[in-house]
Order: sequence, then structure tokens, then C-alpha cells
Amino acid sequence: MKIGVIGTGHVGLVACVTYAEMGHQVVGVDVDEERVDQLGRGIAPFFEPGLVELLQRHLAGGSLSFSTAIADAVRGAEVVFICVGTPSRATGEANLLAVERVAREVAVHSDQAAGGRLVLVQKSTVPAGTATRVRRALRMANRDAGARVSVASNPEFLREGQAIRDSLEPDRILVGADSVYAFEAMRRLYKSLIDNGTEYIETDVPTAELAKHASNAFLALKISYANALARLCERSGADVTRVADIMGSDPRIGRAFLDAGMGYGGFCFPKDLQAFEHLSDSLGYDFPLLREVARLNNEALVATLTKIKEGVWNLEDKRVALLGLSFKPGTDDVRFAPALELAQRLLDEGATVVGYDPQAMTNAKQEVPGLELAADPYEAASGAHCLVLCTQWPEFRDLDLHHLRRVMTDPLVVDGRNLFDARQMAAAGFLYFSVGRPPGGLEIDLRDVGETQQADASS
Ligand code: UGA
Repeated sequence: MKIGVIGTGHVGLVACVTYAEMGHQVVGVDVDEERVDQLGRGIAPFFEPGLVELLQRHLAGGSLSFSTAIADAVRGAEVVFICVGTPSRATGEANLLAVERVAREVAVHSDQAAGGRLVLVQKSTVPAGTATRVRRALRMANRDAGARVSVASNPEFLREGQAIRDSLEPDRILVGADSVYAFEAMRRLYKSLIDNGTEYIETDVPTAELAKHASNAFLALKISYANALARLCERSGADVTRVADIMGSDPRIGRAFLDAGMGYGGFCFPKDLQAFEHLSDSLGYDFPLLREVARLNNEALVATLTKIKEGVWNLEDKRVALLGLSFKPGTDDVRFAPALELAQRLLDEGATVVGYDPQAMTNAKQEVPGLELAADPYEAASGAHCLVLCTQWPEFRDLDLHHLRRVMTDPLVVDGRNLFDARQMAAAGFLYFSVGRPPGGLEIDLRDVGETQQADASS
């Protein structure tokens, strides 16, 4: 099947390589000439495990190509995906200008689609009702396109960092459409995954559109619930990770997305939550729960900042090391990363901030120019008065705690993701703050730390 994919960001590029992997002929389109040029040479614009390998393999095999012209994506295609960005406007509303532009241009070229018929599929996350607007834009740009093009919705549920696996082995595939033709074409497109037993859900377009926003908002709600519990646990002496385990042992609740921390980030949850709230408002339904989820997320970041201040006392003259700068492990994406929000707030309050991340340092420096970068975790910790674990990259679990403490000026660790074990941190001589867990390292006082250090030094 020939497929066009318009927009080669995280969703679009992953779609390009995974549809090629499923055996389709794919043309990816982007307005960014430099990006298209690099993609054509097998260079990926962001880090995603397995992406470069698939990109290079299918470029070499001839089943994948890139262009700046939408006409190239439509010519001979049966299905064209819209994967362009839908950023937030200042009001929180999703900005759908790029979606409209793509729809209008697809309309102009629609007579070149295979057999003169096309399914135009919205893949980027959009508010319910967008397909109706897309249909209208198609007709405005080209009256005949109204008859030739079926509009469908196929929301993407992939997670950054495991996007290739999520696309080739998804939990479910969701297709919203309103014509037999569109449903049939989408079933052929996903045939290999359907044959492998992947759950395949067909529904109407508004339901598919709303289900995506509803899913992301619910996941964000689970995280904020865990973070609110963490505040309560810190006051009551309970352990939020154990509370989450116990809650999660009830299959009706589930353990996933109940990890308290510094809050959620990334380009999806913060933006989608705002857009969902805006959609709800525009439909005349007040949904204050969504505002509360966002407020609790900010509270989680403030709680981390408060612990740092509690530990170091005054921030001026202090050096704070941040481990992990991406919004979550496994990606170099720093958009709305809690680590960078924290870095900026620390800088604003007069601290020197040095960061280390296995993948995201270049992106982080662009976002927060005042941030110093270190070559490894120990260099970041060197001379620091406080070390903050912001993103739980697995390699941080294996840090040599004694070495870390020796290079730091003050033995203070604020663990924003509950990566470390409180008793081990105490044993290594740290004053240790984590999220929603009982003191552990907090029980030691600094005189004990001094004694441990002397003992270490003499051994
Ligand atoms: C999210 C959804 O999980 C995907 O299903 C969806 O397709 C995607 O948004 C999207 O709309 O495109 P993603 O943004 O890649 O995927 O990241 P997640 O793995 O969901 O993590 C989001 C944030 O929540 C991260 O900052 C993570 O650290 C945080 N998080 C996650 C927690 O703080 N606690 C948890 O228990 C889980």
C-alpha cells in the first residue's frame, strides 16, 4: 500500500519507519528542508531507540523516501496521515493552523490519489470535532475533494523512548471513520498487526478523537493523585511507593502511572490537558478536575524545590547538580521537562546549576542557557552542595554512592523520582530527601555524617 505521512516529528517519523516495516511504501513530508535532507541521508532529528536502524534500512530498501512537497505524499497514495504539530495557543486551546493548511493542500492534489480516492487520517492529538473542520476545509479548497476524500481518526498512543515497540506491538489500534471505504483501507493498512492478534477498535470519528484526550488526561490524573498522596505521606509517615503498590494490586486500579515524583512533563500531557479543558469549556462543560490535575503537577515541582531549600538553606552561593534533564528516561526530549523548570527556578533564585543527562544535554542547554553541563554524574556532583535526581535514567541506579559523596561539598541528595534506597543513602552518609517516603536518610544528623566521612577517610 502507498502511504503519505505529513509531518516528521515524533509521531510522524515513527509512523513513517514503522509503516515501512509493516511492508508499505511510505513518503514522509515536512516543511523543514534541512530535516528532509537529513532524513533522506538516514540522519534522525531526535533520539528514539531503534529509529535510526529502521530509517536507514527502509531508505536503502527503497520503501521509504522524504520530500517537502505534499503532492509527493498524495500521488498514488491510498492513505495520507496528518502528523503535524498541534501546539497550545496562549489560551490553552490547540492551535490547528498546520492541520488546516495540510488539509487544504491535500485537497488540491487529491485527484492524484490511487484510483482517485483517499483516506485522510488525523494522527496527531486533536480536540473532538477536528475531523468535521478538516472535511469542511477540504471542500473549501477543492469541491471535488469532498467526495474523493474520507476523513478518519487514528490517534497515536505511543510513548517516547519506546515508540517503535509501541507502534509495532501496540496494546490496541483505534480507528474512527464514517465510511466503509475508510474502514476497509485502514484494516488493510494494519493487516499484519491485526493478524498477530492486536486489539483493533473501530468507532465513529468524534469518539476516537475524544478517547485520546480522555486517556492522556486520565494518565495525568493518576500521576497527580500519586503526587497528592506523596504530600499526605510526607505528613503522616506513610510510604507512597508502598501505598501505590497496595492500590495497584487491585486490578480495577492498576499500578502503572502511580509513581509520585517531580510531576509529569513532555509535549503531550501538559499541552493535551490544557487543550482538553479548553475543548470542555467550548462545549459548555466546566471540568475543574482537569485544572486540579495541572495544579497538583506544579505542586510536585514546588515540593522538590522546597526540599532543596530545606537542605541547603540559602540558594545563593550554592552549587546544585541535576541528574537527568529529559522529561523522562529513554529520550532526549526536554519539552516541558520538570528538570529544566527546576533548573530555571534555581537559577532565578541565585544558585549555580550544573546538569548531566545521557542524551538530552544539547537540547537542555538550548532551553536553559544558564545551565552548566558536566561530562558525567561525578563531574556534575563535584563541588555541589546538593544533588537532585530529576530523571530516573537506569544507569543512575548504579552510581558509586561513596565516590559521589566524596566529590560533593555537602552530602545532600534530593531524589525527585524515588530512585535510590533511603537506607543505602543513609549508610553512604547522605542527608537524603525523597518523595512521599519516610525519613530514612533524614534521621541521620550532619554530625554523624562528619564522623562517617572521617572514618572513610582514615580507612
Ligand atoms: C504519553 C502517553 O503515555 C502516550 O500513551 C501518548 O501517546 C503520548 O503521551 C502522546 O500523547 O503522544 P509520553 O509523553 O511519551 O506518552 O510519556 P509518558 O511515558 O506517558 O510520561 C509522561 C510523563 O509522566 C513523564 O514526565 C513521566 O516522568 C511522568 N510520569 C509517568 C510520572 O511522573 N509518574 C508515573 O507514574 C508515570
